[in-house]
Amino acid sequence: MHIYDIHTHLLPGIDDGAQDWDETMHMVYQAYEDGTTDIAITHHVLSDQDYELENEIIEKYEELKERVAGAKLSLNFHLGAEIFYQHGIKLDHRISTYNDNKKYFLVEFPMQGIPRYVDDQFFEFIIDKITPVLAHPERNLGIINKPQRAFEFVQRGVMLQLNAGSITGDFGEEVRQMAERLLDARLIHFVGSDGHNTRRRPIVMKEAYRRIVERCGEQTADVLFNQNPAKAMQGLEIRILEPLPVPPSKAIKGFGFFKKFGF
Ligand SMILES: [Fe+2]
Repeated sequence: MHIYDIHTHLLPGIDDGAQDWDETMHMVYQAYEDGTTDIAITHHVLSDQDYELENEIIEKYEELKERVAGAKLSLNFHLGAEIFYQHGIKLDHRISTYNDNKKYFLVEFPMQGIPRYVDDQFFEFIIDKITPVLAHPERNLGIINKPQRAFEFVQRGVMLQLNAGSITGDFGEEVRQMAERLLDARLIHFVGSDGHNTRRRPIVMKEAYRRIVERCGEQTADVLFNQNPAKAMQGLEIRILEPLPVPPSKAIKGFGFFKKFGF
């Protein structure tokens, strides 16, 4: 059985992920021992300037595969990026889409909310049969405050990637509950560790897998950890279950305070 982790910052010295090869290889062993079989490398692309690192990323990616083969670890690797959403994003680099398949790309929003005009731009990709995979929606304040936005994105063809640590409570109770609500509404299609290092944000998946089996059943867990990502890495079409609407969130924290002081 395969366990895919479609979101990691594993290569050394590229972004705020692993800092040197020692750390990278520690992370690789952690993932391997935890039962992950497939790892996608998705370093931050915050602006077009970051594509200047593309050659270095590709070189280090090749070296990683050699090192892992040398260590006789059976792990498969895939290459992509985590693209910070901005108006007019282009997917014209080898790392823009997973395995350069020109079909699926990982994109993140600023944590504070949902960018304007994003629906129109995503729609343009979707009519070109390119699927945006939105990273960790459960951590986005725009989604937390109005989860119906997640439903709307999925209905229009966007797919959503949950962070493994969100369902295990690493990002707090509010995020964990959001993760559960999105899972219950069939709005999650992939899971990724978003791993950056060995301690605080490791690239482990097993505990999240166990919780998702418990909550949604083995069949759903297999779709999220194995079937969907296997297709996405190859650029194949994915059929999703019809999403369910998410009930509105309870009053936003702090609202009473603002009301009291007349904001
Ligand atoms: Fe990330």
